[in-house]
Amino acid sequence: MNILVTGGNGQLGNSIKKISSDYPQHTFFFTDVPEVDITNLNLLDRLMEEKSVDAIINCAAYTAVDKAESDVALAESINVKGPKNLAEAAKKRGAKLIHVSTDYVFNGTANEPLKEEAQTDPIGVYGRTKLAGEQAVKDSGCDALVIRTAWLYSEFGNNFVKTMLRLGREREQLGVVFDQVGTPTYAPDLAVAIMTLLDKGFTGFDLYHFSNEGVISWYDFTKAIFRLENINITLNPIESCEYPTPAKRPAYSVLNKKKIKAAGVSVPYWEDSLRVCLKELAK
Ligand SMILES: NC(=O)c1ccc[n+]([C@@H]2O[C@H](COP(=O)([O-])OP(=O)(O)OC[C@H]3O[C@@H](n4cnc5c(N)ncnc54)[C@H](OP(=O)(O)O)[C@@H]3O)[C@@H](O)[C@H]2O)c1
Repeated sequence: MNILVTGGNGQLGNSIKKISSDYPQHTFFFTDVPEVDITNLNLLDRLMEEKSVDAIINCAAYTAVDKAESDVALAESINVKGPKNLAEAAKKRGAKLIHVSTDYVFNGTANEPLKEEAQTDPIGVYGRTKLAGEQAVKDSGCDALVIRTAWLYSEFGNNFVKTMLRLGREREQLGVVFDQVGTPTYAPDLAVAIMTLLDKGFTGFDLYHFSNEGVISWYDFTKAIFRLENINITLNPIESCEYPTPAKRPAYSVLNKKKIKAAGVSVPYWEDSLRVCLKELAK
């Protein structure tokens, strides 16, 4: 397959780049805003034709959760119009689309791992735009998979793990919220999950949940990062109300991975993947 990867300079885009040599049967075209702005349908159509694209993996998104609260138009354009364009362009060529969404489509009041069919109810602009993006892909009628993921981190770009490592080395004390519970996802694990589903083949529309295995709070995750890196500072569990942010976040957003596992995707345990990432960062 000729595979177009959009948002190729982000965490997930770089993770797909990292594993792409394991898939020599495919040709990958990695792009980001300068080459393909996903909000520009004409450009997309042209590139799809030029490169004879068979499949698109959309890693492009507006991911600044707090900034989205005051930057609604741009978040909507990238997270709704973008996937709508990609789905339209894919449909015209009979290409497949894999689009990535988020656990922030849920309101956080669940108390058991969320299945794909669980009621959505985003509590912020980012989650609302991502949900509308999912719907646009579904409505397009193209062959598409939407994969919701959560708490993405990697050796690439800015993310929670890298921020905690920096703060852990700068500060003597740190407070991290313990009342938001979910599961981190190492982006290269998601990249493998995406390639597994793409290689398996699909028609029509389907929705999957993918994160790493296990359940923790941001506080526990930070404890593990510090333990594995021998960072000895005082880490205090705090409530979300003690760390106010422009966007509200779901208190509980653990995803149920039963469906994606049944489709042949393996789901590594969060701490095993964290160890892999820390090793990569140490290189
Ligand atoms: N990060 C998380 O914790 C998290 C959690 C759940 C779900 N997700 C979802 O997972 C996916 C991948 O996230 P990520 O963390 O890899 O995101 P990321 O690191 O923020 O990367 C997104 C990439 O998309 C690019 N982009 C922005 N607007 C674009 C446009 N109009 N056309 C083309 N490219 C554009 C960005 O470029 P600029 O940097 O120049 O803007 C960036 O390179 C997204 O769908 C996200 O919603 C992420």
